[in-house]
Amino acid sequence: MAVGCCHASLRRVTVRTSSRSGASCRSRLIGQVGKKVNHVEQIKIVGFAGSLRYASFNRGLIRAAAETAPSGITIEVIDLADIPLYNQDVEDAGEPASVTAFKRALAAADALLVATPEYNHGIPGVLKNAFDWASRPRATSPLRDKPIAIMGASPGRGSTARAQAQLREAAVFTGACVMPLPELLVGSAAAHFSNDGNLTDPVLRTSVVELVEALREWTLRLRLHAAA
Ligand SMILES: Cc1cc2nc3c(=O)[nH]c(=O)nc-3n(C[C@H](O)[C@H](O)[C@H](O)COP(=O)(O)O)c2cc1C
Repeated sequence: MAVGCCHASLRRVTVRTSSRSGASCRSRLIGQVGKKVNHVEQIKIVGFAGSLRYASFNRGLIRAAAETAPSGITIEVIDLADIPLYNQDVEDAGEPASVTAFKRALAAADALLVATPEYNHGIPGVLKNAFDWASRPRATSPLRDKPIAIMGASPGRGSTARAQAQLREAAVFTGACVMPLPELLVGSAAAHFSNDGNLTDPVLRTSVVELVEALREWTLRLRLHAAA
């Protein structure tokens, strides 16, 4: 399926289209992607990265999104440092306060922006663990029907492609509406970030803005569809 219009190869930075997507949300919206929707509403996005590292490239991507958020979009940055390892015994005994706070933040958001590192060709445990907590219980999960955009950065040439594909698949199973396109994959990350993990590349900062604007459109389109 051809959707979206971005295909740019910028050194090792790629913003590209793909046929993978949140299947259930996509099938409901076939024929609508590509059309513009009006930006009259304020959108609140919650952003987080699957890294706890101080100078994390992926936390830097999320920070850049918050710094460059277009008017009408607010981005609240949260981190996953306080989320314990998922344990159903712990959950059954009473959800930890940090998990409750995390889930409330997701529930209060119109959309989520997630930046994933890639560990051993997959999603880092920190991020998968957070999604696992947030996915339960399924009927009331704040991920259900939630619009989500995914991006990622890594120092290598793989650019988090495999981790993003895994995250997309896992997020779809939670019932989230993963935005099909555009994708934002950043390779050779050290060339684009400062030593503190701040995104310094102006072209990439523009790509982040474009992703956030696309997420707003995706969110409004889903809202229109739900109201129809
Ligand atoms: C356990 C481990 C496995 C990794 N595996 C991969 C990998 O499969 N592909 C890749 O591009 N980078 C891999 N890396 C390098 C990470 O992309 C790199 O550490 C990156 O900076 C992590 O993201 P962050 O900067 O947001 O913390 C791995 C790093 C670690 C610690």
